[in-house]
Amino acid sequence: MHIAFVASECVPFSKTGGLADVVGALPRALAAAGHQVSVYLPRYRMTKLPDAQTVVRSITVPFDDRYRFCSVVTGGSHSGIKFYFVDYPPYFDRDALYGTPAGDYPDNAERFALFSRAVLEASKVLGVPQVFHCHDWQSALVPVMLRTLYAEDPAFRDVGTVFTIHNMGYQGLFPPEILPLLMLPWDLFTISKMEFFGQVNFLKGALVFSDFITTVSRKYSQEIQTTEYGFGLEGVLRNRAATVTGILNGVDYDEWSPQTDKFIAAHYSPEDLSGKTVCKRDLLAAFGVDPADPTWPVIGIVSRFAAQKGFDLISQIMDRLAREDMIVVALGAGDKVYEEMFRRLHKQFPQKIAVKVAYDNAIAHKIEAGSDMFLMPSRYEPCGLNQIYSLKYGTVPVVRATGGLDDTIEPWDARTGRGTGFKFTEYNGESLLLTIKQALQAFRDQSSWQTLMRNGMSKDFSWNASAKEYVRIYDRVRQIRGVNGSHAQPEPELVVRAR
Ligand code: ADP
Ligand code: GLC
Repeated sequence: MHIAFVASECVPFSKTGGLADVVGALPRALAAAGHQVSVYLPRYRMTKLPDAQTVVRSITVPFDDRYRFCSVVTGGSHSGIKFYFVDYPPYFDRDALYGTPAGDYPDNAERFALFSRAVLEASKVLGVPQVFHCHDWQSALVPVMLRTLYAEDPAFRDVGTVFTIHNMGYQGLFPPEILPLLMLPWDLFTISKMEFFGQVNFLKGALVFSDFITTVSRKYSQEIQTTEYGFGLEGVLRNRAATVTGILNGVDYDEWSPQTDKFIAAHYSPEDLSGKTVCKRDLLAAFGVDPADPTWPVIGIVSRFAAQKGFDLISQIMDRLAREDMIVVALGAGDKVYEEMFRRLHKQFPQKIAVKVAYDNAIAHKIEAGSDMFLMPSRYEPCGLNQIYSLKYGTVPVVRATGGLDDTIEPWDARTGRGTGFKFTEYNGESLLLTIKQALQAFRDQSSWQTLMRNGMSKDFSWNASAKEYVRIYDRVRQIRGVNGSHAQPEPELVVRAR
């Protein structure tokens, strides 16, 4: 089967968060299972393509004010996957992917509409897939355009669409005038399609027009159908509940394993944990921390700094946490408020919290290896990858029981010796503090702590199982759309409404 991924980031070409890890790894698992996979991405300034070759010289993307002309280059084929990059320097040759700490780029709608339309046009030259698998609002216009502007195009007659929600908190909201500018029909501006409280909502468009909707953990697939987590789109999702599935993200152990990691000071394994002590020393040196006692546990944080991640709770409890024998090391960048919050906490408690405001992959790996615990107190978390990486590094996760964090971490029970981490449910500082204290208490019994570490290290979250689940979804989509031109009768709830 030929599947084309359409996404706004992908390791190793571009990354701001876990989406890039997923789009980097899932295609490889699919290709290994014998499928043909293409990946379409924007060509950003950060996208390094030493062997770039132009494969589509000029694509005309009509906007209401004027035409834009872009091209498509290939970065070659890696592990059997073809990578294609939409090249339009006025939109993508910029310092960042989506905006600066001060806010989003004002022309994000135009940028990602051009990207989506260019992908559809390019696929006619490079090979129309059986399924377009799109991710998050930046590629949400692919299913919308396929069922509107391209509805009568014979090239796309049998093409199916799968849309994966990695984060409901980012929807792509723009003023109504964007529709005519992008040459999209006004009839999309209704409550049953893309209208959302007076604005145009790209994500909503994908939820309405895609054949199948997935999200990145089972728990999150349920949460987003509630008012608390649905960000206003819970009703749209409930309408399509029969086509919404949660498939847990896998992780790429070629990149994230303490036995092979090229960024860490020493390798280690469940059988021989001694290298972890070397990694801990190396980590503390990298952060310039000289602890009063080298046996104190280190609590690591690696994160986008965003409201989603729950760091306001750390600020609430830091004065009390600072009384404990421990050190927090945090790496992150993003919203100004959290960057400043962490800097302030470091000034206030220089012996207890060290911070790097940066995006730094090598340091992220060092934190996974050198910490004893990993903290993710997220307000919501669709899947979360760092807690899964942490398990493999014997770095015990302390998490809030939400979304993928709840699905991947089992509570530690010292009596039975079962479990992989510590979880709390109520979103407040008291619950977080209590849970961290439980973890610190458990750390004092090093022999049972090592059982806990090894429980996590033995877990397998590689992509194999989840990739198979995606293939099952692609197969269902092909059935709906008609394999070999013979259209199957869609199940009633799968009829693409508003076609
Ligand atoms: P999200 O996608 O919401 O940011 P995930 O846990 O799914 O959260 O994935 C985050 C990914 O981004 C991980 O691979 C993590 O190591 C990486 N990451 C996040 N912030 C940074 C940072 N400041 N420096 C380096 N890597 C980071
Ligand atoms: C998102 C989510 C994160 C998830 C990642 C990859 O950015 O916030 O929880 O792991 O996408 O699916």
